[in-house]
Amino acid sequence: MAKKKMIHDFLRMKQEGDKITFLTAYDFPTAQFAESAGLDMLLVGDSLGMCVYGYSGTVPVVMDQCIYHCEAVRRGAPNTFIVGDMPFMSYQSSLEKAVENAGRFLKEAGCDAIKLEGGVRVVPQIKAIVEAGILVMGHIGLTPQSSGQLGGHKAQGRTLETASIVVQDALAVQEAGAQMILLEAIPPEVAAYITQKLNIPVLSIGAGLDCNGQLLIVSDMIGQFQAFTPKFVKKYCNVAEVVTNAMKDYVAEVKAGKFPEDDHCYHMISGEKEKFDTEFK
Ligand code: KIV
Repeated sequence: MAKKKMIHDFLRMKQEGDKITFLTAYDFPTAQFAESAGLDMLLVGDSLGMCVYGYSGTVPVVMDQCIYHCEAVRRGAPNTFIVGDMPFMSYQSSLEKAVENAGRFLKEAGCDAIKLEGGVRVVPQIKAIVEAGILVMGHIGLTPQSSGQLGGHKAQGRTLETASIVVQDALAVQEAGAQMILLEAIPPEVAAYITQKLNIPVLSIGAGLDCNGQLLIVSDMIGQFQAFTPKFVKKYCNVAEVVTNAMKDYVAEVKAGKFPEDDHCYHMISGEKEKFDTEFK
């Protein structure tokens, strides 16, 4: 079994050009698959609101849901670095609340770090959480919790003016003490600049090849989430098709009396059938 990677390993990987592999997971079996597949890091994202609960966005997700899913992922992947995602309104309203909720991910769910969305505007929260001894991953660019303000789930930083905002956010997040940062849906040119400018590992979801590692949402990459597919997603298999076809086969076999077969039955212990037949004839 590979040794669990920690923050110093991710820093070394950045320095050596060894790409960090990062995927979301929301449940025990997926976490087991991910650890067996050798993922370096897992995110229990608030995208679970859409991928697991069927909400239309991440805003309704609450702390307890995140904690329960983090606990399950930790049980499935005991030797993988796990990042818990702070849901909407778990860190915005006060620094005390931000620190307390960040602490729950470590104390109750055994996470290794937390992630929160925002750049310059969440600098006080990042400083307070880091001050409490908690590893923080920043998240800038397209930040789904504030997609209303961004005018929808749109790529960010595609003009000089907006790219400058993304760069300022990245510098502010590092300066505030975050030990990693995630760039979502920004041009690869801007992401490449940020990656070479920052000392901390820079992860990408839709930010091109030049970052220090890549994240995908597991439900997208296995073809399970069906509502929409962002441009940055590559589907590595089609679970929706495989599972639907298996269910169709099951329905057909039950209807046709082909399932269960004799192999799936618990027969009476030898000699007991004769006694049963006599008793209940
Ligand atoms: O919740 C999540 O999975 C995320 C990704 C979209 C980056 O924050």
